[in-house]
Parts: sequence; C-alpha cells; structure tokens
Amino acid sequence: MNDSPQGLEIPATAGSLAGLRALVTGGASGIGAAASRALAARGAHVVVVDVDGGAAESIASEIGGSAWTVDLLDTDAVTDAASFAQRERIDILVNNAGIQKVSPIEEFDPVDFRRILTLMLEVPFLLIRAALPGMYERGFGRIINVSSVHGIRASAFKSAYVSAKHGLEGLSKVTALEGGARGVTSNCVAPGYVRTPLVEKQLVEQAAVHDIPESEVLSRIMLTESAIKRLVEPEEVASLIAWLASREAAMVTGASYTMDGGWSAR
Ligand SMILES: NC(=O)c1ccc[n+]([C@@H]2O[C@H](COP(=O)([O-])OP(=O)(O)OC[C@H]3O[C@@H](n4cnc5c(N)ncnc54)[C@H](O)[C@@H]3O)[C@@H](O)[C@H]2O)c1
Repeated sequence: MNDSPQGLEIPATAGSLAGLRALVTGGASGIGAAASRALAARGAHVVVVDVDGGAAESIASEIGGSAWTVDLLDTDAVTDAASFAQRERIDILVNNAGIQKVSPIEEFDPVDFRRILTLMLEVPFLLIRAALPGMYERGFGRIINVSSVHGIRASAFKSAYVSAKHGLEGLSKVTALEGGARGVTSNCVAPGYVRTPLVEKQLVEQAAVHDIPESEVLSRIMLTESAIKRLVEPEEVASLIAWLASREAAMVTGASYTMDGGWSAR
C-alpha cells in the first residue's frame, strides 16, 4: 500500500534537473566546482562563472556546460553578468563566489571591506534582480545562496565576511517572501569550514592574528566549536545545493541549512 499523501508520490525522476539551466558564480573551484558537477550530474546545463577563466573552462568542458570568465568585482562586468542573467534562461542561480580576509577591525582596510561586501552581497542582489523576471515568467526558479556558519554566528577578525554573510541571509529571506507565490524559492546553505583553497589560504592569516603555529589553526581555531572534528567536503555541500535546486524542494524557502558539524548547535 502506498501511504504517501495523494499527489505526493515520489516520482522515478526525483532529483532530476534535466532541462534546467543553472548559473554558478565562483564555479571554478571548491564548493562552486562541486556544485557545478552535482547540478550537471542531475541533468542541468551549467554556466560556470568565474574570474579564473582557465579553471572555469576546464570544469565546463568536464561537465558539458559553458564557461564565462568575469571579474564580478568589475562594475561593467557585473552589468554584463546581470544582463546575461536577464537575457538567458536561468532556472537555478547559485550565488557562491566569495573571498576572505582575516584582520582586526582597527587594521581592516576599508577597500577590502567594500570589495567583500560588493562580491558577496551586492553581486548576489544584482544577479537575483536580473534573474527573477524570467523565473517569474516561467513560474519556476531556485535561488541558492552559499552563506556560511558566519551568516548566523560571528568570529573575531572577520568583520567584512561576517557582515556580508549575515546580509546574504537577509537578502535570501526577502527573495523567498517575494518569490513564494510565483514558483521561486530562495535558500541559504551555511557550511562550517570546508576543504577548499579559500580555507587553505586562511591558515597563514589565522596563525598570524592568533599568534599560533599554522599547524595548530585547524584544531585550535577552526574546529573548536564543531561536534564533528573534521572539515566539510565540497561534495557534501554540493549535494545539499543540488537537492535545494530540485522540484522536490518546492516547499523549502526562506531557510538556511547549516552543514557545520554541530557548530551552531551551541
Ligand atoms: N571554504 C569554506 O570553509 C567555506 C565555508 C562556508 C562558506 N564558504 C563560502 O563558499 C563560497 C565558495 O568558497 P570556496 O571555499 O569554495 O572558495 P574557493 O576559493 O575555492 O572558490 C571561490 C571561487 O570564487 C572565484 N572568485 C573569487 N573572486 C571572484 C570575482 N571577483 N569574480 C568572479 N569569481 C571570483 C574564485 O576564482 C574561485 O574559483 C564562498 O562564498 C565562501 O564564503 C566557504
């Protein structure tokens, strides 16, 4: 006997993204590359957007998608990216490109603060703004914002990053409220530390600001709050992104899914 509520049987094609087009910013490395692969594996055509053109081309050719080399910190390029999102069909938008800087507030370069806010909050706003009209027209859209445990918790020395991610969580919820009646969902994924180049680059900076050896940063700084003492793998985050993109996740919106090994349970 099938005890699923009427009309809610899980179809054989569950999770399939066949026929959908996705745009992944920062899709050439780390979480973005894993997300591009996961979305493509489920049948989506993926546009890999990244400032690193060589790496973007390489991922795109591996997954049968397309690459677009853009510096999202360049205002003209962002205008191009926004008009691309408006012109081309984008069903799934993954706002993922991000950078980090670790420094006390009194020494934090305001130029770096602005760059982080631009790339990680203003650019997602501009891309969402550009993609929404088409999504509304088709009655379907999935916006997935790669936030962080730093979207819901703070850490010292990360003023710009924590501010941008908290802002992104708010932007995502507003998008969810506006898109709800028109088939568009918007959610955040909020990982703890993930094994990517962004984290590897941080080891040196963290060692300097905390005045500890680089070899101790992982155990003494990055994993102190987690119940599970290991880094998250990019593929684990990508599987959540792919599920949020699916038709089966239609009732999930305005949410922020942590994948932080229990960090935020405290
Ligand atoms: N690694 C972690 O521990 C972790 C944890 C939580 C959230 N995140 C978030 O995940 C996202 C991806 O991070 P990652 O760890 O995979 O980093 P990563 O450094 O491996 O990848 C980031 C990608 O963004 C691209 N990028 C950077 N600046 C760009 C620009 N101006 N224009 C276009 N592309 C640009 C880079 O070229 C790179 O391919 C970020 O938003 C980050 O904040 C990462």
